[in-house]
Amino acid sequence: MSTKTIAIAPSILAADFARLGDQVREAERDGVDRIHVDVMDGHFVPNISIGPLVVAALRPVTDLPLECHLMIADPDRYIEAFVQAGADSIIVHFEGNNNLHRTVHHIQEFHKKAGVAINPATPCSALDAIIADLDLVLVMTVNPGFGGQKFIRSTLDKIRTVQTTLDRVNPACDLEVDGGIDGDTAPLVVEAGANALVAGTSIFGHRRGIAAGIDELKRASIQYRVV
Ligand code: DX5
Ligand code: ZN
Repeated sequence: MSTKTIAIAPSILAADFARLGDQVREAERDGVDRIHVDVMDGHFVPNISIGPLVVAALRPVTDLPLECHLMIADPDRYIEAFVQAGADSIIVHFEGNNNLHRTVHHIQEFHKKAGVAINPATPCSALDAIIADLDLVLVMTVNPGFGGQKFIRSTLDKIRTVQTTLDRVNPACDLEVDGGIDGDTAPLVVEAGANALVAGTSIFGHRRGIAAGIDELKRASIQYRVV
């Protein structure tokens, strides 16, 4: 019997930016696995968030890996900046990227983990040509751009499909989900095959605080840990 460990990646998009360092330290104390940084440029998605300066500011604050989710046009132009700022892994989107192999290998040449995200309307077959090279697949469970959106249930079938492919061609690759993940949806995505959960609102916006949010997610996914 083997044990499947579920990684928890709090998205700082839902944190109190005026107290960002403290909130990240608190999440680290409460036992999360990495910090998820949502980067938005107002072009690829309608919203604008943060860039490499914030990653550099967080680098000395935490020992946890910093995972940068780039929701930006032309991500190639910024990969080195995020690496220099202290990113440990970089996720780019399939959508709008005509040179995905170049982008992924560019990230890996810096000895950083490379992930590719697919939006809810993008079929899993979009990953076929690249999936064997990846360190992480991110199945978006909402449309990217904003925190606090409702989980899209039709993504569960996609998680299952990606999981089946990864089992065959790249079993060491992480399968992460992002958007609307909370105590109710975590068991569904874990059952479908996800092994990493991004969560913003349900952690930083939890009514009883960060520790309670993390605890709720861990409890919600633990029943599926043994595979
Ligand atoms: C959406 C972002 C997510 C988002 C998740 O564009 O990629 O990481 O912040 O937020 P919640 O957990 O609030 O849905
Ligand atoms: Zn994200």
